[in-house]
Amino acid sequence: MPKFPILLALLLALPIATLGHSYNRVRCQSPTLDPLEGCPPGTLVVSQSNATGKNVFSSIQAAVASIANLTTPATILVLPGIYTEQVNVTRRAPITLLGQTLSPQSSCRNLVKVYWNNATAGITNSTFDNAYTSVLTVAPTLNASLTGKGPTGFAVPDGTPMGNEDFRAYNIDFENFYRPFTAGPSLALSVSYANASFYHCGFYSYQDTVYIGKIGNTYIYDSIIAGQTDFLYGFGTLWIQSSLLSLRGCGGGITAWKGTNTTFTNMYGVYIVDSEVRKANATLDIKGKCPLGRPWNAQHKSIFANTFFDDTVSGYIKWQDSDPRINNLTFMAVYGSYGPGADEAAWAQNVTKVLTEKEYAPYKSVDRVFKFPFSNKAGNTRWIDWSE
Ligand SMILES: *[C@@H]1O[C@H](CO)[C@@H](O)[C@H](O)[C@H]1NC(C)=O
Ligand SMILES: *[C@@H]1O[C@H](CO)[C@@H](O)[C@H](O)[C@H]1NC(C)=O
Ligand SMILES: *[C@@H]1O[C@H](CO)[C@@H](O)[C@H](O)[C@H]1NC(C)=O
Ligand SMILES: *[C@@H]1O[C@H](CO)[C@@H](O)[C@H](O)[C@H]1NC(C)=O
Ligand SMILES: *[C@@H]1O[C@H](CO)[C@@H](O)[C@H](O)[C@H]1NC(C)=O
Ligand SMILES: *[C@@H]1O[C@H](CO)[C@@H](O)[C@H](O)[C@H]1NC(C)=O
Ligand SMILES: *[C@@H]1O[C@H](CO)[C@@H](O)[C@H](O)[C@H]1NC(C)=O
Ligand SMILES: *[C@@H]1O[C@H](CO)[C@@H](O)[C@H](O)[C@H]1NC(C)=O
Ligand SMILES: *[C@@H]1O[C@H](CO)[C@@H](O)[C@H](O)[C@H]1NC(C)=O
Ligand SMILES: *[C@@H]1O[C@H](CO)[C@@H](O)[C@H](O)[C@H]1NC(C)=O
Ligand SMILES: *[C@@H]1O[C@H](CO)[C@@H](O)[C@H](O)[C@H]1NC(C)=O
Repeated sequence: MPKFPILLALLLALPIATLGHSYNRVRCQSPTLDPLEGCPPGTLVVSQSNATGKNVFSSIQAAVASIANLTTPATILVLPGIYTEQVNVTRRAPITLLGQTLSPQSSCRNLVKVYWNNATAGITNSTFDNAYTSVLTVAPTLNASLTGKGPTGFAVPDGTPMGNEDFRAYNIDFENFYRPFTAGPSLALSVSYANASFYHCGFYSYQDTVYIGKIGNTYIYDSIIAGQTDFLYGFGTLWIQSSLLSLRGCGGGITAWKGTNTTFTNMYGVYIVDSEVRKANATLDIKGKCPLGRPWNAQHKSIFANTFFDDTVSGYIKWQDSDPRINNLTFMAVYGSYGPGADEAAWAQNVTKVLTEKEYAPYKSVDRVFKFPFSNKAGNTRWIDWSE
């Protein structure tokens, strides 16, 4: 008999141990003589100095590529610097990307920046897709990450498997600085067929900054997302919690979402919660000029809930007067708006839906919104770090 409980305990301990997230994040991220102090064993290091060693890499992509495509979780500590590279994560193994920092609870003082300049601009090649422009991509295949064209976008081949379902990043800025203004889609983040979460990160671009594609689930916490045109767009499910949307100008809308037959079965859409929408700096003259969103197709779905608006915003708009893309499935909503720019009564006169408490209830919590892939069953949210 005594052996049995030990075996049971071992079995129970196993999944927890293999989750690999029980470590001291703050100590691991703090610059110390031994950078790996507080990090889980086997942590990979990315460094721009010429340090060498078994687990030291000069680019984030090289560190990601070294991870065996298995279920063993991996942690990558990135030392301060500007990394000029595109990072593609196709691996299924849980991956945690940590930026070394003196301020692990802040998104304003990150010391690691991943930087890439590309845009879908002036390109005559019709197979060139927004997917090629992204700084960070989390998706199992290139096909899974394609935006595509037309009312429902690229038809990702049936049977495409899920990619990484536990990707996490902390204290890293991702910047696509193709032009300092809207000049074509230039993505900082792209997530499809994957679950990814971000804490104290920054996403900087002007157009289409954050793309959450098909079967993509993304949770962003205490981060900064900067953009000008349609800068939160996609087909998947995006929850933005306690973050800053920084307006670098106005164009299109802040949100532009599409529904397709791969998304109708779940609660696809973008949910901006307990957040702030502010212009990037005082010199921008954009009072009342930035629409909350516009329908990329008629099944657009977005909610700004309990969010602060400075005076830059206006309500949701039609796609275009000649092509409004509005029907009874269009869901462009607000709930509990406040701040000098918040004017729900005026917005309600146009295409903005002002939700009652009852109407908002189905969207009120993360576990009501994220569903199992390809189904309408309530999903698990183990892939989110609730300790933040
Ligand atoms: C690393 O080595 C390369 C090539 O030898 C050199 O150009 C570069 O300056 C070195 N970087 C640092 C940080 O020492
Ligand atoms: C990882 O494994 C999955 C499932 O076995 C496979 O579909 C995928 O192509 C693999 N990816 C890489 C980059 O090897
Ligand atoms: C974007 O990258 C592609 C290669 O993937 C290149 O052909 C194109 O010129 C780049 N575009 C810009 C605007 O830099
Ligand atoms: C068009 O772009 C795709 C993706 O970058 C590339 O594979 C293809 O070779 C390009 N075709 C031409 C004709 O340049
Ligand atoms: C990332 O994926 C895009 C799209 O396939 C490709 O153009 C780019 O070269 C890839 N970058 C790396 C570092 O693998
Ligand atoms: C990507 O999708 C296209 C169009 O469905 C298909 O022809 C191609 O074979 C797919 N590529 C891969 C690598 O699966
Ligand atoms: C204000 O933000 C805009 C948009 O990002 C930028 O072009 C401009 O340089 C910024 N001005 C100042 C004074 O920082
Ligand atoms: C979605 O529609 C496309 C094209 O009509 C079809 O090929 C695909 O199988 C459908 N996918 C789902 C999940 O229903
Ligand atoms: C939307 O309108 C169509 C007819 O245009 C109708 O068949 C459908 O039941 C309506 N759906 C909802 C949710 O009201
Ligand atoms: C309603 O929309 C019209 C045109 O789309 C615009 O001129 C007007 O300012 C909007 N009203 C409010 C209160 O947003
Ligand atoms: C990915 O996220 C969905 C939605 O929260 C969830 O149902 C699914 O179980 C997650 N995948 C894993 C492996 O945790």
